[in-house]
Amino acid sequence: MPKPYILGIASHKGGVGKTTVAVNLAISLKLLNYKVLLIGMDVANPNLCFHLGLEDANIGFQDVIKKKADILKAIAIHNPTGLSILPEALSESEFIATKSQFDEFKSKLAKLNFDFIIIDTSPGFHQPYEFDHWDEGIIVSTPDMPSVSAAMRTEKEFRSHKIKSSLVMNKVRNKSYEIHLNEIEETWTERIYAVLPDSENVRSSLSEQIPVTIKHKHDPFSYALFDMANKYSGRSQAKPLNYTYHIGIIRRIREFLHI
Ligand SMILES: Nc1ncnc2c1ncn2[C@@H]1O[C@H](COP(=O)(O)OP(=O)(O)OP(=O)(O)O)[C@@H](O)[C@H]1O
Ligand SMILES: [Mg+2]
Repeated sequence: MPKPYILGIASHKGGVGKTTVAVNLAISLKLLNYKVLLIGMDVANPNLCFHLGLEDANIGFQDVIKKKADILKAIAIHNPTGLSILPEALSESEFIATKSQFDEFKSKLAKLNFDFIIIDTSPGFHQPYEFDHWDEGIIVSTPDMPSVSAAMRTEKEFRSHKIKSSLVMNKVRNKSYEIHLNEIEETWTERIYAVLPDSENVRSSLSEQIPVTIKHKHDPFSYALFDMANKYSGRSQAKPLNYTYHIGIIRRIREFLHI
């Protein structure tokens, strides 16, 4: 695994849980003693700060990429965990960074000696070069058609840029109206990397600005995130998922979208 290993969290759809996964995966890896930097790149709608109580951060990712601030000065430390965070500054307006700005940003990151860099993004990406330097894209979806078809588009984009991708299903409630995970797996090139349950504690943690992996360590969502972090640290293997239904909708949608 290259160091730093850069993991971007993405989906063409909003609200599926990208920021929640980014924050809690970063914390889970930090709890395994890795050096982790969490970056907010959702410059269209900055919101990482709300998950961690960092609204006061007046310098952020935008200032660093525009070379208005030194990266070391812009990185905040999350007191309870020691996690390093480069959030989007709330005060900055939208902009599109150039390829050379991203190249320079990447070379700054490479000098910082982190094991993992986790990047939170806006739905459908906002910056044309933002995933050029990623080692892997984690696609977050929920088990419904609008999210899964958005995930397929994201996967297609990663494939065309030759970026390894992993699919994470979030807010899973195991209800009969949800798209069955087995069916998604059937048409995906890789296995579903993680299944994250829907949890009331995730919502309440957001309102308290204390990530669920700290506030409710024994919540099933937290266990699933710790398991995901363990997989990245090579301590456990992906568990085989055991599902039985075959409906055929996903296959039809793939054919329809030509992806
Ligand atoms: N597993 C879960 N169980 C319950 N609620 C969840 C879960 N994951 C995320 N949520 C809730 O869903 C909402 C959206 O989550 P989040 O902000 O992480 O999504 P997002 O994909 O980053 O959204 P956006 O595209 O707007 O940035 C939040 O209220 C969050 O608490
Ligand atoms: Mg978000």
